Amino acid sequence: MKPRALDLFCCAGGATKGLQRAGFHVTGVDIKPQPRYCGDEFHQADALTFPLDGYDFIWASPPCQAYSDMKQMPNAVEHPELIEPVRERLNASGKPWVIENVEGAPLSVHAPMLFTNISGIVLCGTMFGLNTQKWELRRHRLFESNIPMRQPSCAHSERTVIGFYGDHARIRKRRPGSKNRGEDITGRDRKLALVRDLMGIDWMEWSESNQAIPPAYSEFIGRQILENR
Ligand SMILES: C[S@@+](CC[C@H](N)C(=O)[O-])C[C@H]1O[C@@H](n2cnc3c(N)ncnc32)[C@H](O)[C@@H]1O
Repeated sequence: MKPRALDLFCCAGGATKGLQRAGFHVTGVDIKPQPRYCGDEFHQADALTFPLDGYDFIWASPPCQAYSDMKQMPNAVEHPELIEPVRERLNASGKPWVIENVEGAPLSVHAPMLFTNISGIVLCGTMFGLNTQKWELRRHRLFESNIPMRQPSCAHSERTVIGFYGDHARIRKRRPGSKNRGEDITGRDRKLALVRDLMGIDWMEWSESNQAIPPAYSEFIGRQILENR
């Protein structure tokens, strides 16, 4: 029987897909219906109260809006900061866990400290060859866990950097000191083709894929969780 993973805040399942590739049976939980969810089982429920028993590993990707650069926008609305309560629940579960979020979120990114097993890494698309001839996806994300994880090095190249966030697929030409925010790629089909080629995601709508992590990230971590069992 496959080991069972729980993916809290799963959306359409970017993290789920990588965990499946690593060898897990994956159950997703999201507060909203997720008709395109790619996992093995889905529950529409609140991740802060969904029962955690019966799983070998728990993944959580709380919404990042409270921590991302977009919270600085003049029209920004208040978003709940869920990392603390989620970390408390996962720690109390006694199971291996990972919390994922954006740069700027209050997650530990360091080797395990003297009196705790908690550690964290940053993953980047260049660690997994997420590029085309022309473009490169960096999409840095933080991962905190109670299981030690390997930290690969970024392999940033001279390719043009592209980012997917909010409603934008944006070419990032910004250089230190420059006010040029870069150019947007428009058109749903063009954006979805880029998501397919750079993130390896071909089953989501744009509004789902711009929140997702590339499955390569969770596959990398999921394999290490299984090695540590
Ligand atoms: C950043 S997305 C997750 C993306 C996902 N990890 C992926 O790779 O595709 C966050 C999701 O959390 C969901 N969400 C927000 N609050 C929630 C809650 N209290 N319980 C469950 N899901 C929640 C949102 O509906 C959204 O789909």
